[in-house]
Amino acid sequence: MSYNLLKGKRGIIFGALDENSIAWKTAERVHAEGGTFVLTNAPVAMRMGQIKELADKTGSEIIPADATSQEDLENLISKSLEILGGKLDFVLHSIGMSINVRKGRHYTDENYDFTTKGWDISALSFHRVMQNLYKADAMNEWGSIVALTYMAAQRTFPDYNDMADNKAYLESVARSFGYFFGKEKKVRVNTISQSPTATTAGSGVKGFDGFISYAEKMSPLGNATAQDCADYTVSLFSDLTRKVTMQNLFHDGGFSNTGVSQEVIERFSE
Ligand SMILES: NC(=O)c1ccc[n+]([C@@H]2O[C@H](COP(=O)([O-])OP(=O)(O)OC[C@H]3O[C@@H](n4cnc5c(N)ncnc54)[C@H](O)[C@@H]3O)[C@@H](O)[C@H]2O)c1
Repeated sequence: MSYNLLKGKRGIIFGALDENSIAWKTAERVHAEGGTFVLTNAPVAMRMGQIKELADKTGSEIIPADATSQEDLENLISKSLEILGGKLDFVLHSIGMSINVRKGRHYTDENYDFTTKGWDISALSFHRVMQNLYKADAMNEWGSIVALTYMAAQRTFPDYNDMADNKAYLESVARSFGYFFGKEKKVRVNTISQSPTATTAGSGVKGFDGFISYAEKMSPLGNATAQDCADYTVSLFSDLTRKVTMQNLFHDGGFSNTGVSQEVIERFSE
């Protein structure tokens, strides 16, 4: 079902790698709601090639940008304004990567070069993107910026490793930058704290299958899917949520406020 919620709105969507990506589903949903956008991802992700399919489907252009590169971001923003024919109404930051996780380094045995690189990609890049948008005055009033996060920022999930720290930083940046973006430009900044979701980034976490089924059994409404996340993101990009800002919004079927569920009790009573 579409409601034309984003008719006439323009934006940038970071992080669509393949059809499982949360950003991919969001791009499809934004398109269905009448929004137009530029797709971007790291140049290395482009070589995998699938994003072209999404661009064709949604009538979008692709501009490669490494979210840690100042030069790439400046180029991305100035070209996007040109291509889209005006300032932006929405931006999705859907980027995450831990080199420690990827290389199998335990949290108690971090390689700090990996830690720094992962933090730069997963957390500082959110500040970088916003600082560039802010300085270029690239956002329209009542625009909306959303980044994706996970509850390991508040509670310990041992195998989430240094991504937990990156997400805590990311959520803090949303509040801090949200203040200035709100005051100066009337732009919203929020993070969505999403259920575990079967994507390339998600499945990189050790024991992910057990983790996702545990969350499913703990959540009264079940896990939120990537598609559900796309729907929620559209609501945050729309004009229906203009006073929501500087929030970390749990989108997890109720997991974050559940102490224990009947299903989990039954498993442990066997
Ligand atoms: N999958 C989950 O369980 C889950 C849960 C909560 C939050 N999230 C968050 O959702 C977001 C999207 O992840 P996903 O699950 O869709 O996985 P994904 O692997 O499809 O997306 C991650 C994206 O980050 C991009 N990326 C990596 N390095 C980059 C760089 N230097 N510059 C630009 N882009 C770069 C990748 O190319 C990829 O497109 C991430 O922030 C992730 O932490 C995921």
